[in-house]
Amino acid sequence: MSALCDSFGRKVEYLRLSVTDRCDFRCVYCMEEDPCFLTREQVLSFEELALIGKAFTELGVKKIRLTGGEPLVRTDCTDLVAQLGQLPGLQELSMTTNGSRLAKLAPALRAAGLRRLNISLDTLNPERFEQITRNGKLERVIAGIDAAKQAGFERIKLNAVILKGRNDDEVLDLVDFCRSRQLDIAFIEEMPIGLMDERETARHLSSDQVRTLIENRYPLTLSDKRTGGPARYYQMSDSPIHIGFISPHSHNFCHECNRVRVTVEGRLLLCLGNEHSVDLKAILRSHPGDTEALKSAILAAMPQKPKSHEFDTGAVQILRFMNATGG
Ligand code: GTP
Ligand code: 5AD
Ligand code: SF4
Repeated sequence: MSALCDSFGRKVEYLRLSVTDRCDFRCVYCMEEDPCFLTREQVLSFEELALIGKAFTELGVKKIRLTGGEPLVRTDCTDLVAQLGQLPGLQELSMTTNGSRLAKLAPALRAAGLRRLNISLDTLNPERFEQITRNGKLERVIAGIDAAKQAGFERIKLNAVILKGRNDDEVLDLVDFCRSRQLDIAFIEEMPIGLMDERETARHLSSDQVRTLIENRYPLTLSDKRTGGPARYYQMSDSPIHIGFISPHSHNFCHECNRVRVTVEGRLLLCLGNEHSVDLKAILRSHPGDTEALKSAILAAMPQKPKSHEFDTGAVQILRFMNATGG
């Protein structure tokens, strides 16, 4: 039974824990072209990240997803995976990655106990991939996806952020890619996190519009599959894969929010689309090794969790970028 409950009766059982703000890509919707990354002193050590994980699991969190930036650019990230995987009460440890280092690291991650991976892939066109990521090599990510498949992960989900004029012409190609490799995929509506010029010229496409593009070729039926995240999943009649839609703008999912984030700077963020936060790093560093002080601070923060994000009201402008927020 989770001890973490907010003032709207929502139980928090899912922690998204960022292990770095750094990344080897510079995706246009995620960070600036020339970002200023945090220093080593500013970011939590592995010991501190593990203490955060311990405190949250003792408070009833059952699922931890490691995010970034790109988690795998942090040296020895597999050691952190192995350490967190030992936490009593943790039912699921997973990671969201850009896939660029998986060709090398997938077997070690699987051996360290990671069972599920979400991998970002917005396009199958190498030039376009370089434009969106501002330097990434598509072939490395495809090799990473194949290595993860080979390493025997129980579930791999691809994430594609779709925008009109950027990659909406590839929705069916991405579905076919997933059908051929037996991977799930989630199509995501872009969120206004950080300030980016590119977004002003591109045009928003709703999940229903993306779904219609797919249904023109493949009938979809709503599935009861749930993964504890915000995606609504659909099934295909002739393939076992699931197609998810993450629709912060068009199908608000805040009423069933079960998660909080901790940034790599140790800020407990109660909602992706609001600025309410609590400085856990200050507590960690003033009470070294003391999980009780951390737990009290986390419990005390719960009433601050807002009812909903404010992406569409314009009431709050989120200036922090996604890489510093932790996807
Ligand atoms: P699983 O359900 O475990 O597969 O993970 P997930 O889909 O929740 O995680 P993933 O890291 O793959 O995130 C996919 C997208 O969902 C990203 O764009 C996230 O930013 C977004 N997302 C995850 N949680 C939230 C949330 O609480 N609020 C909002 N607005 N977006 C979220
Ligand atoms: N809006 C929606 N999704 C985003 N991601 C990164 N930035 C944004 C944004 N502004 C996605 C990445 C990755 C996941 C962690 O979040 O594509 O798959
Ligand atoms: Fe890196 Fe992921 Fe952000 Fe792209 S979305 S810049 S891959 S952290």
